[in-house]
Amino acid sequence: MFLLIVGTIIVAYVSFVLIRQLLSPLRGVPEPNGGLPILGHTLKITSSTDQVALQNKWAEQFMDLGLYKTRSLFYGAELLHVVRAKWCRYVLGSPEIFPRTDFLNNYFPCMADGVFLVQDEQHSFQKSLLHGAFSESHLENYVTIFEKHTQKLLAKFTSMVKKSPRGASIDLLDHARALTYNIIGEVAFGVQFEEELGYANKFTDATTKHYDAIQNSALSMLIGFFPFVRNFPGVRENIKGDGEREFLKKIVADRKRKIQNGSLTESEKKDFLTFAIQGKDAKTGKTMTDKEIEDNCFSFLIGGWQTTATTILICIHQMAQHPEMQARARKEVEKLPKGDIKVSNLDLPYLTAFIKESLRFYPTVSANARISTKDFKLGELEFPKGTKMFLYTANRDPEEFEHPDEFIPERFMPGSQMKAGSFFSFGWSSTICLGKSFALLQTRLAVARLLQRFSFSIEKKDLDMTLAKKRKPFLAIRTDHPSLICFKKL
Ligand code: HEM
Repeated sequence: MFLLIVGTIIVAYVSFVLIRQLLSPLRGVPEPNGGLPILGHTLKITSSTDQVALQNKWAEQFMDLGLYKTRSLFYGAELLHVVRAKWCRYVLGSPEIFPRTDFLNNYFPCMADGVFLVQDEQHSFQKSLLHGAFSESHLENYVTIFEKHTQKLLAKFTSMVKKSPRGASIDLLDHARALTYNIIGEVAFGVQFEEELGYANKFTDATTKHYDAIQNSALSMLIGFFPFVRNFPGVRENIKGDGEREFLKKIVADRKRKIQNGSLTESEKKDFLTFAIQGKDAKTGKTMTDKEIEDNCFSFLIGGWQTTATTILICIHQMAQHPEMQARARKEVEKLPKGDIKVSNLDLPYLTAFIKESLRFYPTVSANARISTKDFKLGELEFPKGTKMFLYTANRDPEEFEHPDEFIPERFMPGSQMKAGSFFSFGWSSTICLGKSFALLQTRLAVARLLQRFSFSIEKKDLDMTLAKKRKPFLAIRTDHPSLICFKKL
């Protein structure tokens, strides 16, 4: 009897999916080869360790049309991929027609009321309020924090390299993740994650369990398809983020008390948290609720941690592959002062161009997901309300980038002919990354300091593939590129 019920459910489900695929409004859109019935491209996507290479291959195949679709069990049934930059600008520039989906909410409900997930006026309210914390003038407050943590990273690497005079193979991704986690901890919450015990450690534990749960491909696929799975016992505890919430509540309450008592430290006076608590809408005087502040702190962590760490990895990896570019970047940072660094010292055009080109080549955020709230047209094709879309690989559109598959940092140098609004690695328009300047500055400093002290090389191209396969940073690039790079003291 039991088998009969299970069998009937499976047959009913398979028929439902097949009928849905047959009647799909995207049935006229081409898809990459190898899609299976029901599973679609799920296995291709989950088994690929280089998502960027896979997406690029597909984008190139359908560049003439500018669109393709994939079918998968992950994030709904069918996805429309937009690969022409002009259409990405249209979609990202029309948030009233194409808002973000609640896709991230499935995995990070603890940021539901933060700027990443709120929409319309609530989004503009929060964005304008938080914008100041990321403005150029405010960044000066963070640069000493960046430097302090970067110096700790350099000290670690120096002692590793000392033990291997011929060069040490260092797992850069893990160290870069520690660097960016500690920086966000201090800048967003005023917490020294690596030193403090108690609540901060509990938070790190909770975040680690949360990420471990999400990086389990089977579970994340299941949640993408059946969001209610996140409420199941054993899953809920990690995905719901109760541990993180407890920490955030305490942090916000403590900070409010300190503001009232006038007992803020100098660095607390200038960090995100104080900014978010004290920020008021210029016209209405409205402030953010405690829940909104907590959810934004969490959004900064999710938005800024792995993304920036992977960017540092990708840059150093590219430098290791292009020794002549590495030498040019090193020349530019030669005169960077040893201590007491200022934002103006990091005005480094070639290094900045190199970082942007690395991000164009390997965009570390692959989740610009949107859903249409109206019927719409792209070129000659019409699509209905409710179409789920991914905007991802437009960074390789040949109409915007000459020789898109070549790594050419000069295209981002001041005075180059590149069209404005061609670069999508930080998003576009009103939902563009809030932490863009913050992330670029942090990466510039970390890469510049590493360049001053070490040379980087990759002896074996496929070095440590298995290690990279085991670690798939969620939300950031899933890369098969080696995270082990050989560092030599200069
Ligand atoms: C290299 C590092 C980073 C990359 C590549 C990156 C990329 C992106 C992208 C592509 C988006 C837009 C997503 C969309 O349109 O759906 C975004 C949004 C956002 N990012 Fe970043 N990000 C980085 C670092 C950071 C940092 C350091 C922070 C904060 C400390 C941050 C905070 C945010 C926030 C709050 C949003 C939402 C903005 C909004 O909705 O208006 N990001 N980021």
